[in-house]
Amino acid sequence: MIEHIPFLRPKRYVTIIVVFVLSLFIYSYNASINALTNDTIDHHAAATSNEEDLTVYQLPERFREPTHLTPIDPAVLIEMGTESIDSAHRKGLLHIGGILYVMDAAGKFLLMKRSSSVVTCPDTWSIVGEHSIGGEDAGNLPIRALEEELGLDASYIGATIKNLTEHPLYYIRKYGARNGNRIDRQLTYLWLVKLPKRQQEIDWRLDHEVADKKWITLELFDHWLQADEANDSTVNESNEEDDDGPPVGDFCHRTIRSLLRLGIARLKVIL
Ligand SMILES: *[C@@H]1O[C@H](CO)[C@@H](O)[C@H](O)[C@H]1NC(C)=O
Ligand SMILES: *[C@@H]1O[C@H](CO)[C@@H](O)[C@H](O)[C@H]1NC(C)=O
Ligand SMILES: *[C@@H]1O[C@H](CO)[C@@H](O)[C@H](O)[C@H]1NC(C)=O
Ligand SMILES: *[C@@H]1O[C@H](CO)[C@@H](O)[C@H](O)[C@H]1NC(C)=O
Repeated sequence: MIEHIPFLRPKRYVTIIVVFVLSLFIYSYNASINALTNDTIDHHAAATSNEEDLTVYQLPERFREPTHLTPIDPAVLIEMGTESIDSAHRKGLLHIGGILYVMDAAGKFLLMKRSSSVVTCPDTWSIVGEHSIGGEDAGNLPIRALEEELGLDASYIGATIKNLTEHPLYYIRKYGARNGNRIDRQLTYLWLVKLPKRQQEIDWRLDHEVADKKWITLELFDHWLQADEANDSTVNESNEEDDDGPPVGDFCHRTIRSLLRLGIARLKVIL
């Protein structure tokens, strides 16, 4: 059994929440443990679910390993076919995703809490996020994410959607032996979604796995992330090259936190 990612409707659990998601793996313990030892688990999972696969990519040789949060023009990517999310993470294959800063007419931003039943980063806060599926156009991702995760029709409600960076940003998160040596290599688009109404006036249909949600100002969001960074220095993150350490803090881990803060810095310029 693959565990549903929070904030998604069960039938679309493949498309994921990223924020942490972004990165997150989403398995039941059984699936995780099996996957460590049995390479056929993916085929099995694919055959017994309607999971939609991710398009995976390679960077040209000259790129080597980009540094964290490097913007990369997707035009340079070399398409390498499709893989299940599990397989893409186990093989560390580059894929595409997006995170959405959803802002209402009062200027508050939507944060959502992952349920306590997910294996990766349970009970942590995040924003709307998705993996790109089936090689979809970048611009389609935020529209689909709004529909699947929040039950919103972007054109009906009159949402304005803007990219916060010219190109998606590269990140890599190594989950180490604790998690089957999975590696999340993702190019992430950052989107601002402006809603023309206050959140109280909107008919939300959040995925049932969202444990909690809150609307806060950009300043408060940023201060919270900044305070959360202090958690990093109080834990002994693994010094091993293939392990970026366990999740810690209210926002899962530093990879996601730094991505979120970069988006906030862009928002401060744009808004
Ligand atoms: C892996 O799983 C397949 C079917 O799911 C099974 O036939 C095979 O014996 C398993 N291999 C190992 C090493 O567990
Ligand atoms: C959004 O994307 C377009 C097209 O790539 C680009 O020209 C524009 O500069 C981007 N906006 C920001 C804020 O980077
Ligand atoms: C991490 O920092 C936050 C402040 O954002 C605090 O609320 C939380 O309890 C800390 N968590 C851990 C595990 O230290
Ligand atoms: C931190 O981790 C390193 C490498 O895993 C280990 O050698 C060291 O003893 C740890 N330090 C503490 C204070 O736990």
